[in-house]
Amino acid sequence: MAVHSLRGFRDLLPPDSERFAAIEAAAREVFALYGYRELRIPTIEMKELFVKSTGETTDIVEKEMYSFTDGGGREVAVRPEGTPGVVRAYIEQNLSQSGRNAKFYYIGNMFRAERPQAGRFREFEQIGAEHIGNASPFADAETITMLLKLLEKAGLPDCTVDLNSLGCAECRRNYRQTLLAYLRGCQARLCEPCRGRIERNPLRALDCKIDGPWLAGTAPKLALCPDCAAHFARVQELLKLSGIGFRVNPGLVRGLDYYTRTVFEVRSSALGSQDAVCGGGRYDDLVKSMGGPSAPAIGWALGVDRLAMLLKDRAAPGGDPAVFVIAAAKDAADRAFRLLADARAAGIAADFSDFGLSLKSQMRSADKSGASFALLIGEDELKAGTVTLKPLKEKGDQFSVPFPDAPSTLSKLLNS
Ligand code: HAM
Repeated sequence: MAVHSLRGFRDLLPPDSERFAAIEAAAREVFALYGYRELRIPTIEMKELFVKSTGETTDIVEKEMYSFTDGGGREVAVRPEGTPGVVRAYIEQNLSQSGRNAKFYYIGNMFRAERPQAGRFREFEQIGAEHIGNASPFADAETITMLLKLLEKAGLPDCTVDLNSLGCAECRRNYRQTLLAYLRGCQARLCEPCRGRIERNPLRALDCKIDGPWLAGTAPKLALCPDCAAHFARVQELLKLSGIGFRVNPGLVRGLDYYTRTVFEVRSSALGSQDAVCGGGRYDDLVKSMGGPSAPAIGWALGVDRLAMLLKDRAAPGGDPAVFVIAAAKDAADRAFRLLADARAAGIAADFSDFGLSLKSQMRSADKSGASFALLIGEDELKAGTVTLKPLKEKGDQFSVPFPDAPSTLSKLLNS
């Protein structure tokens, strides 16, 4: 049997791969405007990192993590998300001491052994942003504004943000008891995993894929302490001031353990059941709980696979050559090869098939390539020292130009 790819893992072919690259380029531009710098974190970390940060009772850690014992007997895991690695690096590399804002972004593949379906893969790409060391509501408003700028730049304008506050540890301590009492009362209706984990972490039932939807309408709601309520109100004011469309969704709890206060998601109904394009929130206690300084933080991660799906009806950027060079006679091959180099040196994307093939076959390749012009060199052109330019996309007659003038003439034509 031929070797095939694993379920949930896929090849990204053009033009999808180009769509990914365009999203990444848009993200880098936006990050630069907001003072974010790139952090490249390892793909594999100690398993303990994710257990302690993402959370022992989360679906990600309980069911979806690719973890194994390595040759040295260490328990390691392939990263299911980027935030824990960024926090570990922040602590390990003493980034709080640099005197600069700790605003980092990362672009990389994450791995979760979820059941694959449309928009849900076992290997997927995230673009993430983390701002560590700023507790103010301005940081919340800035990061959400930046996210929407990025989505707009990538081609998805006018997104609405779902917003909620999960309060601080204090708000949650009280809520935990109320929620637990409620969940105990309806234990028979809960799914098997939730029944097993409500005593350890009742909040997880609220983002469970099975129980979350019905609990959203019935379970008691969290009450914020005055400080958390004031923070949340200020975030909303600042978002309004920034012209950001949002709706407060008290059912939004997020599926990771480290969140405090503001949480948010951007969703799109066009994605079907896997509708979150991006999710994030504050994690004011995580850095300290992982052994670092007291450093409140906020961040988000965008699912590039899902964003690319939403943009699939738009023309993919680039990819096609502008010109396709053809040698219409055996002796013309070297000259044609030189023309390719001259065109590329002038910044014109140029391609060819095989100068040894028939004119007809090379023309067929030119037509399929998506190029705007075929550049032909045959016996006549060799003798006259010219190149023939044949428009492929628009109607028009072919014409000849002197060989040295071909790149500049093409540049003008392509830019007009
Ligand atoms: P998350 O909500 O688990 O958050 O993932 C963020 C985004 O990654 C999702 O909204 C979705 O677009 C994409 N995503 C997640 N799982 C899959 C999958 N199996 N297939 C395709 N796309 C997927 C986090 O990961 C947090 N680290 C975000 C964060 C950063 N919070 C604070 N800082």
